[in-house]
Amino acid sequence: MKEVKEMMKLNNGIECPEIGIGTYMLTPEQAENSVREALRMGYRMVDTANAYVNERACGRGIRDSGVDRKEIFVSTKLWPSEYTNPNAVDETLERLGLDYVDLLYIHQPAGDWLAGYRQLEKAYREGKARSIGISNFEGKYIESLKDKWEIVPQFIQVEAHPYFTQRELRQTTDPLGIRIMSWYPLGHGDSRLMSEPIFAELGRKYGKTPAQTILRWHIQMGFSVIPGSRNVAHIKDNFDILDFELSEDDMSRIAELDRGERYYHRTDEQLSQFAGWRPSFEQR
Ligand SMILES: NC(=O)c1ccc[n+]([C@@H]2O[C@H](COP(=O)([O-])OP(=O)(O)OC[C@H]3O[C@@H](n4cnc5c(N)ncnc54)[C@H](OP(=O)(O)O)[C@@H]3O)[C@@H](O)[C@H]2O)c1
Repeated sequence: MKEVKEMMKLNNGIECPEIGIGTYMLTPEQAENSVREALRMGYRMVDTANAYVNERACGRGIRDSGVDRKEIFVSTKLWPSEYTNPNAVDETLERLGLDYVDLLYIHQPAGDWLAGYRQLEKAYREGKARSIGISNFEGKYIESLKDKWEIVPQFIQVEAHPYFTQRELRQTTDPLGIRIMSWYPLGHGDSRLMSEPIFAELGRKYGKTPAQTILRWHIQMGFSVIPGSRNVAHIKDNFDILDFELSEDDMSRIAELDRGERYYHRTDEQLSQFAGWRPSFEQR
C-alpha cells in the first residue's frame, strides 16, 4: 500500500485536508451536531456558506468540539447579495465567531461577482482568508475571471462525482494549480450512483462500503471532498477512507462511468434570481 496522505498542498503553499464535512441543507441544529461530532472523530475541515444559514451553528460546533481552531480548515462562501456589501467578510467572520477563515469562496457567478472576487482578494491580503476560491464558475465564468484576477484562486468548488468528473474544467484549472473541491460527491445521496455494481465490487475487495469507495475515488482524482451528512454513523464511515488505495485498474474502470451527466442544471434565470435573493441570516 502506498503512503496515505491526508493533506493536499495548495498553489499558495498552505495545506488543506483531503476530506471535510459538508453542511448544505442542514438546519442549524443538524449542522452544529454534525460539525462537532465530525471534528471529535478526526475531521479537520468544515464547509459552510452564507446561503446555508448555519454559519453560527457551525461556529458553535467548532468551539464545542474542543479541537484547537488552528488545526481546523474552515471554508465558507459569500452569497451574491454580499458581493457589494463592504462589511460582508467581517459579518461572515462574526457569524462564525472566528477572526479568519481558511478558505473563502464567492458562491455563484451572479450579480457583481467581480466586486465579490475583489473582496476575497482584500480578505486574503488582510489575513482574513488563508486561501480563496470560486464556486460554480465553470466555462465562460472562469475564462472571464482569468483576465481580471490579481490573485489566482486556490480552489474551485463544483459538482463532481463519477458520473461527472469535470474533465473539461480541469484543462483550465490543472495548469494553474487550482484544486477542485467536489460538491454532490455522493450524488447528493442518489441511490443510483451508490448502487453502481462497480462500487459494491470494489467495496468487497477492500472491505469498504460503496460510499467509502466513491469518496476514495475523489481524493485519488486529486479532489478535496466534503460529503454532507446529518447522520453520525455516515459521518464516521465517510472519514474512514484514508487506509486503502484504489488501483490504477480500479480507477480506469470507475472512469467508464463518466457520462458528463450532472445532477444539477443551473439556468441563467436562476443566476438572476440568486443575485436578487438575500439569506435571512441567523440572529444568534
Ligand atoms: N458550492 C455549491 O454550490 C454547493 C452545492 C451543493 C453542495 N455544496 C457543498 O458540498 C457538500 C456535499 O454536497 P451534498 O451534501 O449536497 O451532497 P452529497 O455529499 O453528495 O450527499 C449528501 C447526502 O448523502 C447522504 N449520505 C452521506 N453519507 C452517506 C453514506 N456514507 N451512506 C449513505 N448516504 C450518505 C446524506 O444523508 P445523511 O444525512 O442521512 O447521511 C445526504 O442525503 C455540501 O454539504 C456543501 O457543503 C456546495
